[in-house]
Amino acid sequence: MDPDYHKLASNLANEFEILQTSFKTFPDGEFYFRLEELPKNEDVGVLISGYPDQNDAIVKATLLGRTIRDLGANTIIGIVPYFPYARQDKRFHSGEPLSAKIVAKNLLESGFNRIITVDVHSEAPFEEFGERFTNLKSLNVWAKYIKNEIEGKCFLIAPDEGRAEFVNQLAEKAGCDYITLTKKRSLETGEIEEIAPKNEDKLQALSKKCEVAILSDDIISTGGTASEAIEKVKKTFNGKVIAAFTHGVFRPGSVCNLLKVGTDKILATDTIDTSYSRLSVSPLIVSEIREVLGG
Ligand code: R5P
Repeated sequence: MDPDYHKLASNLANEFEILQTSFKTFPDGEFYFRLEELPKNEDVGVLISGYPDQNDAIVKATLLGRTIRDLGANTIIGIVPYFPYARQDKRFHSGEPLSAKIVAKNLLESGFNRIITVDVHSEAPFEEFGERFTNLKSLNVWAKYIKNEIEGKCFLIAPDEGRAEFVNQLAEKAGCDYITLTKKRSLETGEIEEIAPKNEDKLQALSKKCEVAILSDDIISTGGTASEAIEKVKKTFNGKVIAAFTHGVFRPGSVCNLLKVGTDKILATDTIDTSYSRLSVSPLIVSEIREVLGG
């Protein structure tokens, strides 16, 4: 891996040895690399950045995985902190690809023995890969933040039912309460058609006793989900609102959308390198790698 590429790479590079590799891009855009040391009988981890340039990343990972395998490595782990294409987790319309599964299968057929990811959008498409595909949950990272950094009583917001289980578990670990919103998105346009608290009475009760609300979602892309959820909650809740994401895709306009609805603070982890990446998932990844490799 290139330790200058990603803050997370630097953290991992402090824990493991680096396989010296040179990289370049040919004038026509094709990717070239050369392993300066041969990985025969070594266990190797490849850090695959799922955003931006996810299409390039998939090709690079395919070439690296196959080459490292051909050159005699032992276990090869694909570390994909943000798993690209994860949201195309099923055929929403006939004729569509099962992209999430295809990307994982491609890696596993390209020499990788294992894939490690974090807070993948849905685990369902990867179930058939068993222990070859591990999804680490960032619950402890967020629970520690909430316990150590939040002043005053707080509650969590799951912006849709897909996030409810995670937020429920996080609330338990962090010792706070939570509400869930229901969201209806148009499959044609991607626009959010409706978003509302499932239990308005619970929102009212929590609004009276809490000073801080933390919206927790796996991904922020356009910011539509988070900003519409916050706007809804703010009709009842007057306190401070923090928007917290595992994967900060942050498409242009997303931060503006959050600020327009009165978000006080934006936070993300370092699965994607952004200026909001204040929490690191590297301890989770390091301990999983050590476990896979047996210490
Ligand atoms: C969808 O179910 C995801 O969990 C996120 O809520 C969604 O991908 C966020 O996308 P956007 O920021 O474009 O609304």
